[in-house]
Amino acid sequence: MHSFASIATVALGLSLAQYALAAPSAYPSGQSGQCPQGRPAKALYFQTNMPTGNSVVAVPILPNGGLDVKRYSTHATGGCGSAGMEAMNATAGPDALFSQDAVIVQDHMLFATNAGSNTFTMFKIDRRNPTCLTMVGEPAATMGEFPVAVAYSKHLKTACVLNSGAADGVACYSVSGRTGLKALDTGARKLNLGQSTPPLGPTGTVSDIFFTPDSKMLIVMVKGNPPTKVAGFVAVYPVVNGTVSMTPVKSNPVGSVALFGSSIISNTEILATDAGFGTMKLKIDPVTHVVTADVKTTIAGQAATCWSAYSPKTGSVYVTDIKMNRIEEISAASGKIVSALNFTNGNTGNIDDIVGGDFLYSLSPSLGKTDIAVVSLACGQGKMKELETFSIPGANQFSSGLAVL
Ligand SMILES: *[C@@H]1O[C@H](CO)[C@@H](O)[C@H](O)[C@H]1NC(C)=O
Ligand SMILES: *[C@@H]1O[C@H](CO)[C@@H](O)[C@H](O)[C@H]1NC(C)=O
Ligand SMILES: *[C@@H]1O[C@H](CO)[C@@H](O)[C@H](O)[C@H]1NC(C)=O
Repeated sequence: MHSFASIATVALGLSLAQYALAAPSAYPSGQSGQCPQGRPAKALYFQTNMPTGNSVVAVPILPNGGLDVKRYSTHATGGCGSAGMEAMNATAGPDALFSQDAVIVQDHMLFATNAGSNTFTMFKIDRRNPTCLTMVGEPAATMGEFPVAVAYSKHLKTACVLNSGAADGVACYSVSGRTGLKALDTGARKLNLGQSTPPLGPTGTVSDIFFTPDSKMLIVMVKGNPPTKVAGFVAVYPVVNGTVSMTPVKSNPVGSVALFGSSIISNTEILATDAGFGTMKLKIDPVTHVVTADVKTTIAGQAATCWSAYSPKTGSVYVTDIKMNRIEEISAASGKIVSALNFTNGNTGNIDDIVGGDFLYSLSPSLGKTDIAVVSLACGQGKMKELETFSIPGANQFSSGLAVL
């Protein structure tokens, strides 16, 4: 852990006297006409994805947006994690699942995939104590292998899970707060990517799954595989009569290489990361369900831009790179770079990120611990401020997914 006091002193322009009051914290005080402290979320969640037994880690968020790491709790999912292969005999991690949304939170429910057990688990989150999780029903079989991402529609009361292994594809479930997950399908909507279990990636694997805000479409992002010249695609499954259709409309947005973690901006706009160059703003035709490239943005010096988090309040999408220890801020409206922040925490890069209130959280797993960096977004667009990095001991290089309540 680092102290960012000196950075804050410069960034916030505090006088020495004011600094003494604020010390040793880098957190904005809300005084002196500076940025407000910002509204915090309640708790942060990720999965350990341990092959020996998967757990969800729940960490309380402090009023200043920081993490109360002394009071984190772990909750067994009843399944096992797993890791993809980056080459023959080379286990992936960090980025063990090659995905975004391995853990999601909506409507006081949490869903987490168990890539090693071909199941996913539903928990209820206690309204008074958000680190208190109760499993609802049993983990559900995903009708495929190596599940890596989940989507939920409150409107449809439906959860859909995305499998990345030899048996790939999407399966959907009705969701009951009392009885849990019940299959709506008799088999998965196959994508036929020709993968193995565990998959060989990150290229040529599935990336992400999410509903549009109006719940009229379920969207799946799939990375291309440049070495084999197989193009990636976006699969759009229209929701007809409250049911996710079995057949998607597939599009290959011109110029995309390896579409990865994505943020849905509106019913017709996606801000996708692309590991090949940076980000791509995509347009969805609400009638034909065809997805086309709108704005392609190359991030200079990027290695693999793969995860994204949207703040409707700042109007920006914050993207991370597994090999660059920084956040790039992209305007959701223009699809262009607004600003960048280089972390000073000494990590090698970042995977999943998420916006909670006026703060951004970014996951950096490594051998023996998982770091979470906290960034203030309270000053608005173009003004990210690094606050502090917290370590969760015991969590490891397989940690995946990041969700917030
Ligand atoms: C992978 O591991 C197997 C079994 O240990 C070994 O036979 C094979 O040579 C290894 N392949 C590579 C490319 O390292
Ligand atoms: C939708 O549901 C209505 C009423 O159940 C039915 O008449 C109609 O055929 C359905 N449409 C489709 C496309 O399934
Ligand atoms: C981040 O670091 C890179 C490489 O050292 C540098 O080119 C860039 O200007 C820095 N960005 C910011 C916003 O400090």
